[in-house]
Amino acid sequence: MFLLALEREVKATELVTEAGQRYAAPAGVGPRRNIVAFSAICSHKLMYPTPQLSFIGPRAGRGSEPAQVIHCCGDQSRYDPAQGARVIGGPAPQPLAAVLLEWDRTADRLHAIGLQGGEMFSAFFEKYAFRLETELGAKARAACGPTAAVLPARAYSRQWQSCPA
Ligand code: FES
Repeated sequence: MFLLALEREVKATELVTEAGQRYAAPAGVGPRRNIVAFSAICSHKLMYPTPQLSFIGPRAGRGSEPAQVIHCCGDQSRYDPAQGARVIGGPAPQPLAAVLLEWDRTADRLHAIGLQGGEMFSAFFEKYAFRLETELGAKARAACGPTAAVLPARAYSRQWQSCPA
């Protein structure tokens, strides 16, 4: 999952999945309503960040693009995280799935409570079943616990694939 604090408040965005299902990508949360989260699985060929290498991740926007985009080096798809991670370039057929967040103002905690948009998990676990089981064993498909650590992207992957961006 990519958890991003963008420069500006993020409004909810009406989007559509590859299958034609309409949904509302959620608005930003937090004190500045600028925190959003998305699945880190590219909607094109399902590339995803690993501790060894990442082909997909946040980048600075270029030209008329927003200040920050999510770029996938696989086939150069680009997503706009300020608009529900809609596709702004490349062959990706649908936005990244949006993670529904709730912000607990009192405790200043974020809770991930669901997902909106085109879910790719079944296809992901099917495509990478062997690799995931080799790397993670029985816990490859285990549900995560009640809390999860958030790492800076650069700390999570040892190598960020450089590609024209
Ligand atoms: S796998 Fe991401 S653009 Fe093709």
